[in-house]
Amino acid sequence: MDKHTSRRTFLQYTAAAGAAFLLSSLESFARARREPGLRVAIIGCGSVSNRYIPHLQASPLIEITSLCDIRYERALAQNEQYQLRANTYPHIDDMLAGAPFDMMVTLTDMQVHGELNKKALLAGKHVWSEKPMANTYSEGKALYELAKSKNLRIWGAPAVVNSPQFAFMSRSIQEGKLGTIASAHAQYGHTGPGWSAFFYEKDGGSMPDLGVYNIATLTGLLGPAKSAMAMASIVTPERTVDDKGVIRVEAEDNAHILLDHGKGVISHVMCGFNYFDPHGHEAAGQSLHSIQIFGTHGNMRLIGYDWEPNGVVLDTSWTEPPVLHQKDAEGYAWEEGATVVGESLMKNAEPRIHVEHALHVLEIIEAARKSSASGKKVKLKSRFPWPMV
Ligand SMILES: NC(=O)c1ccc[n+]([C@@H]2O[C@H](COP(=O)([O-])OP(=O)(O)OC[C@H]3O[C@@H](n4cnc5c(N)ncnc54)[C@H](O)[C@@H]3O)[C@@H](O)[C@H]2O)c1
Repeated sequence: MDKHTSRRTFLQYTAAAGAAFLLSSLESFARARREPGLRVAIIGCGSVSNRYIPHLQASPLIEITSLCDIRYERALAQNEQYQLRANTYPHIDDMLAGAPFDMMVTLTDMQVHGELNKKALLAGKHVWSEKPMANTYSEGKALYELAKSKNLRIWGAPAVVNSPQFAFMSRSIQEGKLGTIASAHAQYGHTGPGWSAFFYEKDGGSMPDLGVYNIATLTGLLGPAKSAMAMASIVTPERTVDDKGVIRVEAEDNAHILLDHGKGVISHVMCGFNYFDPHGHEAAGQSLHSIQIFGTHGNMRLIGYDWEPNGVVLDTSWTEPPVLHQKDAEGYAWEEGATVVGESLMKNAEPRIHVEHALHVLEIIEAARKSSASGKKVKLKSRFPWPMV
């Protein structure tokens, strides 16, 4: 449905109808075609909203109707910048009591995602949350249970499983092109965001901000993990950030995580805020093989980062050179999660992104912290539908 042409079609349709026919037609049309599309409210109008807003705006099925930020001037500025004509609010309670909407998109500091997502669900809204969807696995699981009890949906970033490169890798594994899978490695790092302190404060850190992509990719490709071991550290104890000046770093800025996927398959993630990378926070043109999967008959290396991949090299021959596959993103963009799930609500279709996958990733991050603190392996209990492709 195109939100603009559908309104036009609606007018043409009703104008052509007779008076008696009109009333029942109006009702059935309204039932069949909701106007003006899925109404989305965005909470958190900072850096990442500059990626989400244009992507949501481009959807014919979605309308951004509300914006909220405790730094209210940011909600006003984004409304102006993207000419949204949305309702603006300085607090979630005002937004939930204000103009009606269908789905909240949570783009605030990580530490408050859980409490904001809960308020939205209690108010009857669907939720797409930036990562992590809560601070702990049990908090996230409770949100999922709450959503189910109210016939609502909640999903959590990232959207890496949507990329055609992920699909190619998953299919190659499922089709046995690599033989028996043994090991995998993933990495993501840069020198850390400089704009907000929350990345370095308690419940922030490089695992929920960066490692989360790699953990989602490796579990998505290799299946749910049964246990985790990790070492995490703080390399740079003090940072200077735009919003708070000089701060003490409280959350890990360097982490290595080992995952046991069962059947002997072991994977490894390394992530951190102290990794020099001339590409910085951007991934365009990145040539690093950030994901590597090894089996008895082949290996695969993803070029670039899993959230913005540039191709997959597949090596299955003793004699022929490796082959580069799937260079094209085919429209995939890392910021597409809210749009994709929003459109899935409108189409009554099930997206590939699964909340139980996001919860599994969250359990791994929590387990990694426990393992690093205790020096022990931590068992995992969560599962998600797998294989995903
Ligand atoms: N910036 C990126 O490139 C990027 C990319 C992917 C994911 N993310 C994720 O997006 C989230 C936000 O990151 P960011 O870089 O945009 O941060 P940011 O600091 O630029 O923006 C966060 C905004 O949330 C607002 N906020 C905080 N608490 C709030 C509350 N209780 N109610 C309403 N507004 C509140 C802040 O005032 C701020 O404007 C994080 O989870 C981050 O991991 C960021």
